[in-house]
Amino acid sequence: MSAPLIDPFARAITYLRVSVTDRCDFRCVYCMSEDMTFLPKRDLLTLEELDRLCSTFIRLGVEKLRITGGEPLVRRGIMTFFNSMSRHLESGALKELTLTTNGSQLEKYADALYAAGVRRVNISLDTIDEAKFKEITRWGRLPQVLRGIDAAQKAGLKVKINAVALKGFNEPELPAITEWCASRDMDLTWIEVMPMGDIGNEDRITQFWSLKDVRAEYEKHYTVTDLPERTGGPARYVRLEETGQKIGFITPLSHNFCESCNRVRVTCTGEIYTCLGQEGKADLRAPLRANEEGNGGLEAAIRAAIGDKPRGHDFDYSRENVAGKMSRHMSHTGG
Ligand code: GTP
Ligand code: 5AD
Ligand code: SF4
Repeated sequence: MSAPLIDPFARAITYLRVSVTDRCDFRCVYCMSEDMTFLPKRDLLTLEELDRLCSTFIRLGVEKLRITGGEPLVRRGIMTFFNSMSRHLESGALKELTLTTNGSQLEKYADALYAAGVRRVNISLDTIDEAKFKEITRWGRLPQVLRGIDAAQKAGLKVKINAVALKGFNEPELPAITEWCASRDMDLTWIEVMPMGDIGNEDRITQFWSLKDVRAEYEKHYTVTDLPERTGGPARYVRLEETGQKIGFITPLSHNFCESCNRVRVTCTGEIYTCLGQEGKADLRAPLRANEEGNGGLEAAIRAAIGDKPRGHDFDYSRENVAGKMSRHMSHTGG
């Protein structure tokens, strides 16, 4: 086994997030503008190249692989890729193969994902009100996602709901969303809105609902106990004693968690981003294509990129303006 991937701040990189497409069948207002230009298909890594790339990371010590997008399940042939990745679960090299999805295609794919070894999915859902869902996703339809969630649970997949906390939007729904998740035995994680890309008329500061306030809101209704557990992601968890439910908080703005960062991201064109909140990137596609057999060049490029991983992001809204903003959208790297 080669030396593990360690960054300049002594953080071991064991978690890879791969965005397999920048396309999506929704247009969430905080994520995309309505008239997004997507990458030409010819720029994408093929499924075979994505396989070689992920397999190289796994050989270098990556144990958790999360497939993201855009919406990962709209990429043509994506199940071929999941099926092929399952060999790394069987060998024991990979501990978890999972995805973050908007749920729209789960009705179709839930059983196949389970068969490929996926056991847990994170589903992005910000509201359970049909009209508001249409408003926030522009193109999405709630009943389709709810059928997807049903299918996922029926297939045996554990579901975590990710909700972006949006001031004045899902604020009044906090109890309803929480109870709905409890009634379906789903974990719930709230995410603070990050300044990723231009999104038309929306304004991040007006959207921002600090998770400090979300927690305070919970404390009005429940006894909130901090939990020590970690899933290898940035969320910190609490338990609501009255329901026994676990609630996660992802707080890139109100509390930085970068010191425990264990992940890097690769896009569908083979760019590696070693921080979600920095512009720095490196190309892995050229070394991947240069050397089809051995992956020496690719391994060197991965190590060089991780050798440059920044300490963390600089997002900040505290001075009434947006600092640390990224030019790219979240759909570029999949969150
Ligand atoms: P679990 O395995 O369930 O812990 O997953 P996770 O929290 O790593 O993944 P998920 O896709 O649910 O992440 C939710 C969101 O958290 C992402 O879409 C991002 O918005 C945010 N997030 C994840 N990692 C980072 C990070 O390194 N930095 C920042 N700023 N945000 C992150
Ligand atoms: N800030 C925070 N979360 C975002 N997401 C998309 N755009 C943003 C943003 N600007 C979330 C989605 C999904 C995950 C991939 O990232 O809702 O849960
Ligand atoms: Fe699509 Fe997810 Fe972005 Fe919404 S947040 S537009 S579902 S990629």
